[in-house]
Amino acid sequence: MRSQTTPAARVKRSTMPENASGLAAQLRRLLIGQSEAINTIVPFVQMHQAGLSPEGRPIGVVLLLGPTGTGKTRTVEALAQVLHGSSKNLLKVDCGEFQMEHEVAKLIGAPPGYLGHRETQPMLTQAKLAGVTSEESDISLVLFGEIEKAAASMTRLLLGILDKATLRLGDNSTVNFERSLIFLTSNLGAKSIQKINTPDFGFEAMLPPKAVEERKIQSAGLSAVRQKFPPEFVNRIDSVVTYKPLEREACETILEQILSEFARLIQSRLGLRAFKLSCTPAGRTLLLDTGVSSEFGARELKRTVQRNFIQPVAALVAQEQVPPGSTVILDAKGGEFTIFMRQ
Ligand SMILES: Nc1ncnc2c1ncn2[C@@H]1O[C@H](COP(=O)(O)OP(=O)(O)OP(=O)(O)O)[C@@H](O)[C@H]1O
Ligand SMILES: [Mg+2]
Repeated sequence: MRSQTTPAARVKRSTMPENASGLAAQLRRLLIGQSEAINTIVPFVQMHQAGLSPEGRPIGVVLLLGPTGTGKTRTVEALAQVLHGSSKNLLKVDCGEFQMEHEVAKLIGAPPGYLGHRETQPMLTQAKLAGVTSEESDISLVLFGEIEKAAASMTRLLLGILDKATLRLGDNSTVNFERSLIFLTSNLGAKSIQKINTPDFGFEAMLPPKAVEERKIQSAGLSAVRQKFPPEFVNRIDSVVTYKPLEREACETILEQILSEFARLIQSRLGLRAFKLSCTPAGRTLLLDTGVSSEFGARELKRTVQRNFIQPVAALVAQEQVPPGSTVILDAKGGEFTIFMRQ
């Protein structure tokens, strides 16, 4: 007799790949130009959704390396958006806040009887992990930022979380991280990565293109991490993603995202008084030249749009100078932004 598939198994098998590619596609819309990150992260989510994640460990531990403003934090926010419907559904721990040994009590709470036992609410509790899940997904996304700044005792706590998926709190209770996907971010090696990308002389340009450059970037990041952390720490990391400096084309797409976000905001906030936003090619070029740099990535782009487009437009709105239904256009001439209106 041929084996029969139960309806439940059939449904699962036929929808899984679709869901998975849906996840990658949705992430690709939110995170631009960093496909390695998406290709690395999606399988961890799939493993969990299929019930195949290993027991006694977090769903995954992924180290995100690379220059500032290239989308490391954005990656985890995008995942929160796609999994839970809000980019805020994630637990962020800024390791820069725990540089002193005694500050670690803020994370796990002080032991009973110690000064401040009642006042210090631990940052990492089971309830907090549950608080960032949703009806759609039981995955808690946890982001430890700037791990290179953590005190030694913080590194030891992290080790327990990464290895056994548990954290013992000051009051001796434990927090279970088996349904957590853990991200560590670091700028370690970012300086050398940037240097690789902007060589002083044309010599580098004569070498074979991207592959060599990408391999160099990867090893610069990893060797910086190996120097800073003990081997047992590095061994507990499942995957390392090295973010590349953003290419011009990626920045153009990010600018489109930022502009349409503002356009949506105007539509939803102003209702009947709403108007359209538009930007000429010259306006776009100047926004990109001002807002994107090899030093800060796309970090300044949103602020550049805000300062040179949105704020001047807001001033016009406040003076009732924008007729409803008109189009406000950003242009640039001689290195200066100009704004004009069309009915
Ligand atoms: N790859 C990207 N796709 C979409 N937006 C991006 C990307 N990279 C950067 N941005 C934009 O730039 C802002 C800053 O990026 P993000 O916070 O992810 O940088 P980061 O890599 O975490 O930097 P840092 O190392 O300083 O923490 C984002 O909020 C987003 O608007
Ligand atoms: Mg960040």
